Amino acid sequence: MDYTPLTKASKLTEVKTTIFTTVGNLARKHKAIDLSQGFPNFQADSKLKSLVSEAINIGYNQYAPMQGYYGLREVISDKIETLHNREYNPESEITVTVGATQAIFTAITAFVNKGDEVIVIKPAYDCYEPAIILNGGIPVFVQLNAPDYKIDWNIFRSKISDKTKMVIINTPHNPSGTMLTKWDMEQLENILKPTNIILLSDEVYEHIIFDGQVHESASRFTDLANRSFVCASFGKTFHVTGWKMGYCAAPAELMAEFRKVHQFAVFCVDHPVQRALAIYLKNPSHYLDLNNFYQQKRDFFLEGIKSSKFKFKPSKGTYFQLLDYTHISNEEDEAIGKRLITKNRIASIPISSFNVDNRNDHMLRFCFAKKQKTLEKAVEILCKL
Ligand SMILES: Cc1ncc(COP(=O)(O)O)c(C=O)c1O
Repeated sequence: MDYTPLTKASKLTEVKTTIFTTVGNLARKHKAIDLSQGFPNFQADSKLKSLVSEAINIGYNQYAPMQGYYGLREVISDKIETLHNREYNPESEITVTVGATQAIFTAITAFVNKGDEVIVIKPAYDCYEPAIILNGGIPVFVQLNAPDYKIDWNIFRSKISDKTKMVIINTPHNPSGTMLTKWDMEQLENILKPTNIILLSDEVYEHIIFDGQVHESASRFTDLANRSFVCASFGKTFHVTGWKMGYCAAPAELMAEFRKVHQFAVFCVDHPVQRALAIYLKNPSHYLDLNNFYQQKRDFFLEGIKSSKFKFKPSKGTYFQLLDYTHISNEEDEAIGKRLITKNRIASIPISSFNVDNRNDHMLRFCFAKKQKTLEKAVEILCKL
């Protein structure tokens, strides 16, 4: 009998070990200062942690409602209305999810069928494409260019076909640290208006925005909001990425389809954490103060490397900063990234892994969601290169 490997049936033949795992492992092996992965190395607010313990001790330890604890959905709805002037009905238009990742996967699964095209703007976070492919969809790329990573809306428009089912945007943008402006969102709105294309708006860094700018959520634009899944992450906002808590807001008609998938994928999400977040989220300073908190970190990092050989455009949002290393080396970004870990003991993410055909932009991504001490050490190393 012929031996056929079980993995021959892989649905994701292109997916290999991610750059995050490879870099993380190498950084640990060489005891490098790790500015590669997107999570803080400091603790969350002890108030929030106590609220979770209290919820567990009170006894909220069984399944939460499928859509999420109503009290939490209500505060989320109030938050969106206050910030973006859009009303989402907590009953039918908000669902609590296992991080933004599950919200994204669920929205794609609920709507993308075999042969549907989904526009993905590159460089892009890595969870979009596998979700599209697993559902038989076809990712159609719009590649942005360094150093500004701005969307050319004419190019974007040219990628739309009668097979386009969905468009994915991410603002503030990982990895470039750019943000879509009001003008950008209006261009997008005008392009999508005559179509029935769904918008998936990944807004996980909505509260990490610098220099007094405004986050132009898709929920601010009526025609966009009417076709959008807006995805958010409590992990990013409250320094608890390990809790994998997020949510998704969408008009009732779209949300009903989303929930059909959600209820069989996870059914519901961690109950005590939802109870805690419902209380914690009532105080807006818990998320509105984040801009300042991270701006100080960004500014410290950039001030520190001002005299280094790196070139950069200050990040406008997210906790990532791209550094252009052309004055240091003409190596591929993966090669210099690896060398910096093994020889100089500092880890970053090469941007090629986010680009179409792994194009090399001579950029490395550094995460500044780190303790002061970590940033000081990082600056010292980077200035010596
Ligand atoms: C752009 C972007 N979207 C989504 C996520 C995933 O968010 P979560 O951890 O809430 O699933 C991340 C995490 O790094 C991200 O950078």
